[in-house]
Amino acid sequence: MTNKNTINSLPLPPGDFGLPIIGESIEFLRDRNFTKKRQEKYGHVFKTHIFGQPTIVAIGADANNYIFTNENKYFTNNWPKSTRELLGAASLSVQVGTEHQKRRKILSQAFQPRALSSYISTVELNTYKYFERWEKLSNFAWYPEIKNYTLDIACKLLVGTESASQSKLGDLYTTWVNGLFSLAINLPWTTFGKAYQSRKLLLQEIENIIQERINSSNSKEDALGLLIQAEDEDGNRLSVEELKDQLLTLIFAGHETLTSAIASFCLLVAQHPQVLAAIRQEQEELGLNMPITLENLKQMTYLEQVLKETLRLVPPVGGAFRKVIETCEFNGYQIPQGWSLLYQIGYTHQDIDIYPQPKQFNPERFNLTSTEDKTKTFSFIPFGGGIRECIGKEFAKLEIKIFAALLLRNYQWELISQQNLDLVMVPTPRPKDGLKVNFQKILV
Ligand code: HEM
Repeated sequence: MTNKNTINSLPLPPGDFGLPIIGESIEFLRDRNFTKKRQEKYGHVFKTHIFGQPTIVAIGADANNYIFTNENKYFTNNWPKSTRELLGAASLSVQVGTEHQKRRKILSQAFQPRALSSYISTVELNTYKYFERWEKLSNFAWYPEIKNYTLDIACKLLVGTESASQSKLGDLYTTWVNGLFSLAINLPWTTFGKAYQSRKLLLQEIENIIQERINSSNSKEDALGLLIQAEDEDGNRLSVEELKDQLLTLIFAGHETLTSAIASFCLLVAQHPQVLAAIRQEQEELGLNMPITLENLKQMTYLEQVLKETLRLVPPVGGAFRKVIETCEFNGYQIPQGWSLLYQIGYTHQDIDIYPQPKQFNPERFNLTSTEDKTKTFSFIPFGGGIRECIGKEFAKLEIKIFAALLLRNYQWELISQQNLDLVMVPTPRPKDGLKVNFQKILV
């Protein structure tokens, strides 16, 4: 349907705007079943009013397809003011249109197979370092530890810093992250104000690191080295000013999500001993000393299925917002210009028509003969889709797989009883008590 008059005469999706001004924001933030309840009442597309915006929530593979294939035509990205200002105007997540596409091309050079392959040794070294630490700790809350682990790897690869979680960079970073989804009031004592100050100091640190690297004759093969030298087809490179924003975005986008994914893997396989036994057996059959290479990782097919099922059941990103830039039609409803639109990852993965018994952790859904996620395009979207699909997707899969393979080969872990394993969902899913475990080396 292309006729504008016809679109304008279409009904709005069903739903309720809630209270004046605050709309349904409080229910949205507090009620884990906010979307489920409304989906049951109104169907896959409904309207609400959250974060000061009339918003349409669209659920399922068809909605994802419509959104991902109409980026820049009907939709553009839509971050809260605090996120936009703290990520910076030059951040890939904030850029739009052709600028965004050009930048993606340059940045993606740091995620090509050759580059990924060169990151393996850094990931391996950090993984062993943390495994040794955890063996000594023995009983501990795993989630905050995994967070330090992923931050150290991201910072080592992106800005060349060792053990960043224990350094000044780590402290500044934590204050900066706290402000990303806050009220954007820039005063010295507000969360946003403190985060804004930290952003300035972080950028200064990052600039020093970039300048040092540019001035040194030593061109290292890490992500920073690749990004400094990366060029578009006209030979343009990223300016230092832009590179700073891009690096900060990559550190953030890369490590919070990965932490959640790794922790969910550790939790789910501990709760499913048969799955754990099968992925251990796969490592044994492939050979416990098999070196970690891109080729060898590809052979870990059952582990791949388990990781896929982990990302289906507990996707680190639950969904994302867009802004409607031109009134359009979906499913017979009018989607008005100026409104927000929220696509749903978690609920797409719970579609009973695609994933029977969707709440069950069942890696067999993704075996070679199963067609579950192939039934419909965009029914499996832990990394989003279309032109804004996660740029770090392959790196994320690489890091999780290396972590998992080395863990399975050498260590065992048990969940400590009497802890709350319910998931806190914001900003990324994590067990309430931080995933307390007993961690030991496997004795042979
Ligand atoms: C398991 C780990 C990860 C998950 C589940 C994940 C998920 C996602 C999702 C769903 C999006 C799309 C958001 C949207 O539609 O607006 C996205 C975008 C993005 N991700 Fe990831 N991500 C992960 C790891 C990473 C890593 C390791 C990096 C970088 C090192 C990264 C960098 C980015 C960036 C820069 C974007 C914005 C892309 C753009 O707007 O063009 N992510 N991610």
